[in-house]
Amino acid sequence: MKFICLTLLIINGITDSISEQYKVVGPADPVFAVAGEDVILPCSIKPNISVVDMRVEWFRSDLKDSQLVHLYEDHEDRNIEQIQSYRGRTKLNHPELQRGDASLKLSSVRVSDEGLYKCFIQSKSRSDDATVNVSVEVVGRPPVITVDGFDHSGGLHLQCESEGWNPEPDLEWLDSEGVSLSSETTEMHRNTEGFSVKHTITLHHSDDKIHCRVKLRHHMLEALIISNMFHSWRTSVIVISVFVVLSVIAGILIAVFAHKNRGKILVFLFYIFYVNKTV
Ligand SMILES: *[C@@H]1O[C@H](CO)[C@@H](O)[C@H](O)[C@H]1NC(C)=O
Ligand SMILES: *[C@@H]1O[C@H](CO)[C@@H](O)[C@H](O)[C@H]1NC(C)=O
Repeated sequence: MKFICLTLLIINGITDSISEQYKVVGPADPVFAVAGEDVILPCSIKPNISVVDMRVEWFRSDLKDSQLVHLYEDHEDRNIEQIQSYRGRTKLNHPELQRGDASLKLSSVRVSDEGLYKCFIQSKSRSDDATVNVSVEVVGRPPVITVDGFDHSGGLHLQCESEGWNPEPDLEWLDSEGVSLSSETTEMHRNTEGFSVKHTITLHHSDDKIHCRVKLRHHMLEALIISNMFHSWRTSVIVISVFVVLSVIAGILIAVFAHKNRGKILVFLFYIFYVNKTV
């Protein structure tokens, strides 16, 4: 009898541990969230048994001090110890817990939400966890192009700047045909608002339109400079040159004329002087 009881106990123990055998699964790739929008941090157990009776804890594994993001225990959410900045922004879908899905919905994403999260699921006899790497994308302000003057060889200096991105965006200059132009200098800074970029370029050929494009994955902002200014500067150089050439020709003609009509020249000069004065 004792032997049978022991056997039954062992068998019971084995079936128990088999039914409790599970793995916590998170996403293989980083999760990209856009600042201001909502995001789901995926987490589930395999096989998909119910986690209703388990403890589900979401915490930040990359932070030192208070780490709790969301806690579900004894069939309810217990968020008294939750990190202040997550207050009211986390939600577990309770009906989904029955299907083994412990994904966390995080609303109004902030830059500070970027980091590593652990989804920790604990039953009476075991526990397992999965890591979720969250990246927060912030679309910065539209780029601004400024004209920074001309160099000695007549090149036009342009500067394009854009602020408030996360992570680092790509900046490129494009000509009117959409061909990429290489930047002369490039700068990247990081502050509390995110990354700011600044590129400069020197143009030696007049081009109708120059675009400055800032891109981050599927987000893109663009600024356009229509180089009318460049044109009018060129035009004025040409006008001045033509004027100088014409003046020289006129001077030579006058000189030749004066040489041939020495007697009449005084009257002519007087005439020019008089007309200029009265006009
Ligand atoms: C568990 O997953 C299987 C296959 O993916 C599915 O058919 C089944 O309905 C799921 N069970 C629950 C409780 O969601
Ligand atoms: C998290 O994802 C980001 C963005 O893809 C990556 O740069 C970073 O190395 C990842 N961190 C870890 C710990 O995997």
